[in-house]
Amino acid sequence: MKAFITRIIPDAGLQLLQDAGITITQWTEKRDLTPEELINACKQHDALLSSGANNINAHFLNECKHLKVIALLSVGYDNVDVPEATRLNIPIGNTPGVLSGATADTAFLLMLAASRKAFYVHKKILKGEWKFFDPTTDLGIELNGKTLGIFGLGKIGMEMAKKCVGAYNMKVIYHNRQHNPDAEKTLNAVRVSFDELLQQSDVLSVHTALTTETKGIFNTTAFSKMRPSSIFINTARGAIHNEEDLKAALESGTIWGAGLDVTNPEPMQPDNPLLNMPNVAILPHIGSATVDTRNAMSVIAAKNVIAGLGGTRLPHVVNP
Ligand code: DGY
Repeated sequence: MKAFITRIIPDAGLQLLQDAGITITQWTEKRDLTPEELINACKQHDALLSSGANNINAHFLNECKHLKVIALLSVGYDNVDVPEATRLNIPIGNTPGVLSGATADTAFLLMLAASRKAFYVHKKILKGEWKFFDPTTDLGIELNGKTLGIFGLGKIGMEMAKKCVGAYNMKVIYHNRQHNPDAEKTLNAVRVSFDELLQQSDVLSVHTALTTETKGIFNTTAFSKMRPSSIFINTARGAIHNEEDLKAALESGTIWGAGLDVTNPEPMQPDNPLLNMPNVAILPHIGSATVDTRNAMSVIAAKNVIAGLGGTRLPHVVNP
């Protein structure tokens, strides 16, 4: 059996595939495959292990319907046409759970960085602009006792909420389709409407999947309901916020700051004005980028490939 991998992945996952007798081809170029290259490569393989950057759309799936499994190296699967894969009987695997702590760390880091203008003042040092102690410039805001709003309180949101309660005794509110009894019991979290989340959050952190329902939901209308002192954090998917609307909300002081690990498009261009705004912290989609987490993700993805090639149910499958 042969598996094609669209990135160099950690040895932990590779080893498992090799031990299972699977022949591996890894794409080693420092660029994404074009759609045609991906189709051509997959035509010669039985399984695909793919990063979230590859568009697994209906065209790809129909060209490669021989694939026995597609394993993603991500928890998010918005890059996959899951209904079409399901129709074609191709199981799609993802990597939930293992990246929750690392991704929540990234959200927490961005919250702190935005609240203290950390990335902006760091750039001032590099530019030789640290001249003297000035008691009234570059002042941040404190987080102690503030209200954290979580949009999408799943595993990652829960980790973020725990960190914020532990570190700053923050009050947690959340907006979900369903109640999260664990969060309500252990963190006194309160489920609120979307408008209440916007109106009451001092820090609003996005931890939901990108769907037709959430695409662009953080737009001018949403930002206009937020507090002028609030910070918007997104470590989920860039398309959940409208970037132009976010820029306008920051410029006009409708909201105070933002921390983004995800942008739309990715990569963000270096001349993007958001990168130079004082109260904004931006990272290049590194939410799960720790050695431990990426090892664990590669192991799950490898197990999904092995199960799919063996014709058994994937340990983590997203098809209904
Ligand atoms: C995920 O796992 O979904 C991360 O965003 C990496 O793509």
